[in-house]
Amino acid sequence: MNESYFENLLRIDTSKFEYSGNGSFETSYEPTPYNSIIKLFKKYTPLENPHFVDFGSGKGRFSFIVNYFFDVGCTGVEVRTEYHKKCLENLASYGEKYTEKAKKIFFVNSSAEKYAISSFENVFYFYNPFSAKVFYKVVGNILDSVKDYERNVDIILYFPTDEFTYFLDTKTPFYHLLEVYPEGKYSNPKDKFVVYRYGKTTEVLTIEMQTTCKSCVEICSCK
Ligand SMILES: C[S@@+](CC[C@H](N)C(=O)[O-])C[C@H]1O[C@@H](n2cnc3c(N)ncnc32)[C@H](O)[C@@H]1O
Repeated sequence: MNESYFENLLRIDTSKFEYSGNGSFETSYEPTPYNSIIKLFKKYTPLENPHFVDFGSGKGRFSFIVNYFFDVGCTGVEVRTEYHKKCLENLASYGEKYTEKAKKIFFVNSSAEKYAISSFENVFYFYNPFSAKVFYKVVGNILDSVKDYERNVDIILYFPTDEFTYFLDTKTPFYHLLEVYPEGKYSNPKDKFVVYRYGKTTEVLTIEMQTTCKSCVEICSCK
């Protein structure tokens, strides 16, 4: 399925790339390809009761497609006012067709590092939007929020830089959960999603319970 199929289905206009004059990636816009998003969700199951946050949401594509597929909440945080306005136009158009679903989508015109994370937000998406320095600050904000409201949290990176993954691997309690190569690992190794998780999965809890029970049995049998 091509880009225009989804643009028409969702009644949104997010396809046009925008490149800033100075070539800075922090002010350029490129949407995540629809096909890549679909491949991500074939392998990755979001946490229970997900509320996504797309940091650097551009024209809002990620929020719309996730809301359409899963009927879940999503907040897009975008620093550039012209893209934020485009998100609102897209939301009005999407809402004409998908009125109930659209009530779960929010757009905020703010820089990511100043965005106050809410206790119900638990899946954070980054398509290579900004410098590592900003990323470190945003991850710090996520961890502060988790300290205040303990919960499992996922971070999804698309086209991740080594700085981002190194930071998560070595300086945070997040652990590497999975990788998805939408075009296959060998066609473009940089074209990938990497998912990190904070918190305990059902699998980890099950193993822990089994271990506890085992030692309990051993203690009991000693007596
Ligand atoms: C590659 S685009 C990603 C668009 C969208 N996430 C998607 O996948 O379709 C990156 C976006 O990040 C935005 N951005 C750059 N720095 C930012 C910041 N500090 N806070 C919020 N948004 C930022 C840019 O304006 C741009 O729209």
